[in-house]
Amino acid sequence: MRPALEGQLRKRTGGFSLAVKTIQPGASMHTIGKWLVMALLAVVVVPVGMLSAQQPEENPYITYRRNVMRSVASNMGGIGDILKNQLPFQANLAEHAKNVERSAAMIAKAFEQKATDEKKGGAKEDIWKDYSKFKMGAENLTKEAQALTGVMAGGDSKAIMGQLQKVGKACKDCHEAFRKPMN
Ligand code: HEC
Repeated sequence: MRPALEGQLRKRTGGFSLAVKTIQPGASMHTIGKWLVMALLAVVVVPVGMLSAQQPEENPYITYRRNVMRSVASNMGGIGDILKNQLPFQANLAEHAKNVERSAAMIAKAFEQKATDEKKGGAKEDIWKDYSKFKMGAENLTKEAQALTGVMAGGDSKAIMGQLQKVGKACKDCHEAFRKPMN
């Protein structure tokens, strides 16, 4: 390949030189196929991005409460990672538990505004039929997460496992009552 063209291609692909050298007379069909796919993707990916911008926006209340829920979940996930793999981040355990506690305290308010959509695993209308029960579920999680923060500081692994189960049950109880099925 001419060095100029190769340089140009490199530039356009952000220095990514995948298969660049193989475009020359005698290139196999296989290689050309790969380039075709890449070119098609470039054409397709842009309009898809534009399309999604035109679609109706997700209700901002729904987006927000899902973010609150993910923050609860990612901190639980962090705790799981550390314990399961004995990662050298033991000092973070109590912090993660505290973060679960803090995010849990935001759940009730985040769901006050009635809004539903078609998403699998999304919120059930029942939340707003019995909001005080929902709120109790959120308060229960806050309480169990507070206890988790306490046992994390103590470092007793049996107590930690026991309390983690209680936190997990608080998630499960609320999901069973107030989340639509995942499939
Ligand atoms: C008081 C009720 C309640 C509690 C407690 C609760 N959740 Fe949820 N969670 C929900 C509801 C309702 C949804 C669906 C929200 C929606 O999609 O509109 C949800 C959604 C989620 C989602 C999906 C978020 C998304 O991006 O769509 C995750 C992950 C999740 N919860 C994890 C957890 C974990 C982990 C816990 C416990 C540590 C927990 N939840 C505790 C009610 C609860």
